[in-house]
Amino acid sequence: MKKIFLWIVSLGALAVAIVVLWPAYYGNPSVETSVPVADSTAQIARGRYLAQVSDCMACHTARGGTPFAGGRAIKTAYGTFVTPNITPDVGTGLGSWSTDDFWRAMHLGRSRDGHPLYPVFPYTDYTHITRADADAIYAYLRSIPPASAPNQPHALHFPYDQRWLMYAWQRVYFTPAVYQPDPQQSEAWNRGAYLVNGAGHCGACHTSRNAMGSALSKSALAGGFLVAQDWYAPALDQTPSASRSAAASELATLLRTGTSARHSVYGPMSEVVFGSLQYLRNEDALAIADYLNSLPQSEPPPAPADMAKVSRQYTGELMRRGAQLYHNDCAACHQVNGAGVRHIYPALGANASVLAPSPVNAIRMVLNGGFAPATALNPRPFGMPPFSPSYSDSDVAAVVTYMRQSWGNDASAVAPQDVARFRSAPVD
Ligand code: HEC
Ligand code: HEC
Ligand code: HEC
Repeated sequence: MKKIFLWIVSLGALAVAIVVLWPAYYGNPSVETSVPVADSTAQIARGRYLAQVSDCMACHTARGGTPFAGGRAIKTAYGTFVTPNITPDVGTGLGSWSTDDFWRAMHLGRSRDGHPLYPVFPYTDYTHITRADADAIYAYLRSIPPASAPNQPHALHFPYDQRWLMYAWQRVYFTPAVYQPDPQQSEAWNRGAYLVNGAGHCGACHTSRNAMGSALSKSALAGGFLVAQDWYAPALDQTPSASRSAAASELATLLRTGTSARHSVYGPMSEVVFGSLQYLRNEDALAIADYLNSLPQSEPPPAPADMAKVSRQYTGELMRRGAQLYHNDCAACHQVNGAGVRHIYPALGANASVLAPSPVNAIRMVLNGGFAPATALNPRPFGMPPFSPSYSDSDVAAVVTYMRQSWGNDASAVAPQDVARFRSAPVD
């Protein structure tokens, strides 16, 4: 009873706060004016490229569905979101939206009727996109065939289903602002920063979030857990890890092809490369790499608090068992010394995926195996077989502990109970 009362009081207080604090900016959003373009074909082509780099299609297309017609379910800790139709259909899509309406969605996180949008649509990053680029994306979206597909409602948990609370969320956590180039830096660096923090929305996964789902600016790109997806996106800022101190060209190759000499992407990053980054122009991929390699190293997020502690004695047992399993089942590909085979099998020494504070990625790779994405520049990627059918939880814990503490790696040991909960994680 007391709890309900508290809820009512705090919701009431919030409502009052919103009305009182309402800034003129939101009441009357000053719309940066559209720049007329001479060549609409060129504008559409530019918009298509930017839409690819922004990965709009991945979220706004149901599995096997019409591109951009929405209907894809996105599971999060807050409930399931279903993406809307963004084709130019008049009845069910963006057909009757103006360029200004679209700009407000991208820049202010507001729908056509002014209601605030949930930041699962990454407008907290897209807000950095310039008006001219947003107009180009919209010109492209208007050029695709309209598809009639009514929007489906989200299925969110209380209180997240109360959309009006997003007024308060935006007020506290969201500052709309177009990217301002840093005159001290090169043109390429600025282009990289613009793409990473704007269209590319890399921070949507690679930055830690607070309990309200807001990115923590202090740890921008220092690594983050994907909400409810049980994956960890490693730090992208410069650290001594070999996979990241690699030359910018290696990193650019990884982004465009899905593999580089020592690494290949998997899990959600494989989807990002497949749907989006493989289309990057080489100079843009290099600009992104240039920018990422210049970032100061920040504190990575701590290991999840609920990870079991492993005693020294048990670590010793895990290491012995892990060494045996590794030599039997893994060394043929990843090599006895963990160095992998260049361009074919990833190196496991000095590997951000293996060394991450959370062992979740390594556990899931051993359980489910994986494939790097098939891209235009790497159409036949190598794969890794799943070990979940033959490995017990303690086998997985042993081989993951072995990887985390061999070849110069120095990360915490992993207990079998931390493996158990990822057995049921969806394989994608
Ligand atoms: C990570 C997934 C994701 C990506 C990437 C994404 N969106 Fe969305 N988008 C959503 C979701 C979910 C919603 C619904 C938000 C809500 O209901 O508040 C949405 C809402 C929208 C809306 C508002 C529609 C309406 O009817 O109010 C527009 C416009 C939109 N997205 C366009 C885009 C464009 C353009 C891109 C690429 C530049 C893009 N989205 C990329 C998930 C995504
Ligand atoms: C949907 C979530 C998501 C988005 C968006 C995303 N990433 Fe990732 N990324 C991941 C995950 C998860 C991994 C870990 C798996 C792997 O290494 O392939 C990863 C891994 C990486 C790695 C390998 C890191 C290492 O040292 O091993 C790089 C580099 C990278 N991402 C760059 C980017 C860039 C640049 C962007 C934006 C253009 C981006 N990512 C956007 C989820 C994401
Ligand atoms: C048939 C060859 C093969 C075998 C056997 C194999 N792997 Fe892999 N492994 C790969 C390939 C290829 C990838 C990259 C897959 C991807 O990108 O989705 C990979 C990726 C990984 C990764 C993710 C690291 C990264 O940077 O991409 C880990 C961790 C890993 N393997 C550990 C193991 C362990 C532990 C074993 C034994 C239990 C094992 N592998 C057996 C081929 C193999």
